[in-house]
Amino acid sequence: MILRLLTGFLFIQTSLAQGTFDPSTCGQTKGCLFAPTGCVPSQDCRISFSYQVQNGQTLQMEISGQPPNPQAGFVAVGFSKDNSMGDDSVSACVSNNGQTTGLLAYTPAKSITVKNSPVQTTIQASATNGNLYCVLRRQLGNTGDAQIFDLNGTYYVLMADGPLDNGIPTYHSNNRWVLPRTDIGRYGTNAFGQTIQRDDPGSQGATSGTQHSTNDKLKIAHGILMVLAWSVFIFTGILFARHFRGHWPNTTMLGVKMWFNFHRTINMIGVGMTIAAFVLIFVANGWQWSGPKANASTAENQAWSSIHSILGLLACVIAWAQPLNAVFRCNPESKARPIFNMIHRFFGFSAWLMAAAATMIAVVHFNGMFSNRDAALGLYIAYIAVAGLTLIVLELIFIRNFFVSRRGVGNEIEMVRIQRLQLAILLLYIVCAVGLAVAICVLIGLKPGDLA
Ligand SMILES: *[C@@H]1O[C@H](CO)[C@@H](O)[C@H](O)[C@H]1NC(C)=O
Repeated sequence: MILRLLTGFLFIQTSLAQGTFDPSTCGQTKGCLFAPTGCVPSQDCRISFSYQVQNGQTLQMEISGQPPNPQAGFVAVGFSKDNSMGDDSVSACVSNNGQTTGLLAYTPAKSITVKNSPVQTTIQASATNGNLYCVLRRQLGNTGDAQIFDLNGTYYVLMADGPLDNGIPTYHSNNRWVLPRTDIGRYGTNAFGQTIQRDDPGSQGATSGTQHSTNDKLKIAHGILMVLAWSVFIFTGILFARHFRGHWPNTTMLGVKMWFNFHRTINMIGVGMTIAAFVLIFVANGWQWSGPKANASTAENQAWSSIHSILGLLACVIAWAQPLNAVFRCNPESKARPIFNMIHRFFGFSAWLMAAAATMIAVVHFNGMFSNRDAALGLYIAYIAVAGLTLIVLELIFIRNFFVSRRGVGNEIEMVRIQRLQLAILLLYIVCAVGLAVAICVLIGLKPGDLA
């Protein structure tokens, strides 16, 4: 009788333990990552992984997938500080001769060390029709073992499946994928049971310390160069082309009018700075694109860091194309010239708007990038107000000039006065922009370090 009760109980236990990966709550209550690139969850993904913090204490993970040999195979998720294998903390779902269980491991280099530690417990484990499914829990916080990482942070996520060798995952002959840097503690509930959705640190490594890593320094340089390039140089270059064509009508340098010399020189400096800043951020991210991509989940792709990346990329590519389209413009007398002018203006200003939006995202959402995020936000809003006001006032003067010259009522003295006024406004803009931009750069330079 007791035996029958017991077997019945066991039977219920095993059937309860069978689970499947449910992608429907991904991006809401849990974060999810899938491999390979571009797969559709519940359809053709080989590996599905979810992460969710529970009560601020434990990380609940689901690992699911179909290894080539489900009788002796594994599905593993590695957490890495860089984007290559070696020195990674690994959680895996392992199936060996009908026994399915979770596994905690560390990969020193191209080998694997199994860790027996209470830091990770197996909540559920099943193998159904070749599909392994494990629910694992890992304690957050310092584990006291350098080979078991505290997953309360941002890591590159590596995924792999393959066969077992003597019950242990093999390094060779498996399928491996590198996924983007991910804030593993981003979703779930805090110690008070409240839902947490951490602000995406923009892959900044949100922990703060006193020293900057090389990566951190590259990101600081990226931020400073971009702010100066777009706020000080490129916007001033745009103003010269729009409102200062009539100034210094009799002066030429290098065979072109002065406004064009200013426009070209200032924008070239700005564009040069954006190229440098662009390269820096790619070096910092290990040449990984951190914008939207096919293999990332919707939540990842809609993260602010991802939107920042795509806006920044578009702004830069357009800015780099501007001098090229200027080289191929038709000559000033051609009928098509106004069309070139319109296209050139439209793209120039759009690029600046996208860059401003990308910067705004950074000052609103990338808390870790500034010593005082609120101050940075205030300064940048002030800058946008100054730029907008400058543009509006100059545009009003432009419209006034247009009507005056059409009616032919303007006179020489008045024109000189107006031109002086325009120059004064430009000067005022430059002084304000330099002041505000440099202040933002200082806040970036003093950002908390990522090394303790
Ligand atoms: C996880 O990190 C957050 C800040 O990023 C911190 O507030 C929290 O205390 C950490 N939790 C644990 C268990 O270490």
